[in-house]
Amino acid sequence: MRALAILALLMPATALAAGPDGATVFTRCAACHTRTGAGVPGAYPPLGADFRALATKPGGRRYLALAVLKGLSGPLTVEGKTYRNVMPAQGGLDEAAVAAVLNHVGTTIARTGPAFKPFTAAEVSGYKAGAGSMTGADVARLHDAAEGK
Ligand code: HEC
Repeated sequence: MRALAILALLMPATALAAGPDGATVFTRCAACHTRTGAGVPGAYPPLGADFRALATKPGGRRYLALAVLKGLSGPLTVEGKTYRNVMPAQGGLDEAAVAAVLNHVGTTIARTGPAFKPFTAAEVSGYKAGAGSMTGADVARLHDAAEGK
């Protein structure tokens, strides 16, 4: 018993917490955004400075969650480059999985630092409930205002 308890203490918190693993979910994002999140200029935007800025603002957090839930259809300007591509809605991810993948991007990919406020499933749920039949084009139009431009 004691050995088991010690083992449990040594396991990373993510392995103990029930729920989806953001790094695993991110493998599907990496197909386009690349494994490091650097993206492909002109085709797939990087998940870096823009993500970091958006994650600190209420409108930005809503935009990030809706991008995953509803997809995006540009034009979209990220780090000074315009993207006119389409990101499909990431179907099959529940609110907890969306929160987990955004937290993985926030902490490991975009490296937002200790100030990063984790997304919760409840937060994502709220954005989803308020989004109704929004399309990817509608979500892309939120980008500039969400960033305060
Ligand atoms: C099939 C390719 C593809 C996949 C898979 C994909 N994306 Fe995207 N993503 C895009 C494209 C393309 C854009 C830019 C859309 C445009 O050009 O209008 C984008 C944009 C984004 C943006 C907006 C960036 C910004 O700074 O405004 C975020 C955030 C994002 N993706 C996150 C994700 C996450 C998280 C996943 C996985 C759950 C994911 N994407 C999966 C193609 C993809």
